[in-house]
Amino acid sequence: MLRSLKNQVAFFRQFRQRFETTGSIAPSSRFLAKSMTRFLAKRGSESIRVLEIGPGTGPVTEKIVPALCAGDVFDMVELNESFVEILEDRFKNDATWTAAASMAKIHQLPIQEFHPEQKYDFVISGLPLNNFPAELVAEITSKYFQLLKPGGVLSYFEYMYVRPIRKVVTRGVEKTRITRIDDIMKGHCDSYRIARDNIWLNIPPAWVQHLQLSEDA
Ligand SMILES: C[S@@+](CC[C@H](N)C(=O)[O-])C[C@H]1O[C@@H](n2cnc3c(N)ncnc32)[C@H](O)[C@@H]1O
Repeated sequence: MLRSLKNQVAFFRQFRQRFETTGSIAPSSRFLAKSMTRFLAKRGSESIRVLEIGPGTGPVTEKIVPALCAGDVFDMVELNESFVEILEDRFKNDATWTAAASMAKIHQLPIQEFHPEQKYDFVISGLPLNNFPAELVAEITSKYFQLLKPGGVLSYFEYMYVRPIRKVVTRGVEKTRITRIDDIMKGHCDSYRIARDNIWLNIPPAWVQHLQLSEDA
C-alpha cells in the first residue's frame, strides 16, 4: 500500500518533468497489467524469453515476475533512470521479485538503441506512442517485430479514443502526425492482431492490443 502510493507519487513527478516519454499521470492499474500479460500467463513448460519495454514503476512487471520459471530470460528496457532505480530496488528487496532477480536484467536506454543477441517469445510494451513523432513510431513498432520470434506475441496498450479524437480536434502538422501514427498502428493490427481487450478500470481507460507473428515469419 505504502509502496503503491510512493510509486504513484514518483510516476506523477516524472509525468510533470517528462510528459512526452512518461505519457500518463498514473501507473497502469492491475486490470490493465493482467490483460497485458494474459498470453504470457498461458505459457507452456519450455523456457521462454520475455521483454518488457517501458516498465515505469513496474505495475506490469509485477504480473510478469510470478509467471517466470527457472531458465527463463526477462529483459526490461527503460529510458528513465528514476524508474530504473525503483525497479532495481524492487528486485533487491521484494521477496517475490528477488526470486526472479537472477533471470532479470534492466537495460537503461531507449528501445531504439537496444540490440539483443536473441529474439523474444513475448514483447510487452507500455510506450506512449501517441506522444512520439510518426517516424519514431514507425521505427519503434518495426523494432517490436524484429524483436519477436516467429509465433511470438506482442502486447501493448493505448489509451482509448486518443487518436480518433485528436484526428478530429487538431489541425495542420499535429493532425498529419496523429493520422500517420493511426495508419501505422492500423497496418500492424490488420496484419497481426489476435485479440483486443477494453480496460475501463484504468486512468485513463485503455485498449490492450495483442499481435502475433506467424510461425513462418
Ligand atoms: C505510459 S508509461 C508506462 C509505464 C508502465 N509500463 C505502466 O504501465 O504504468 C511509459 C514508460 O515508457 C518509458 N519510455 C518512454 N520512451 C521510451 C523508450 N524510447 N525506450 C524505453 N522506455 C521508454 C517511460 O520512461 C515510461 O516508463
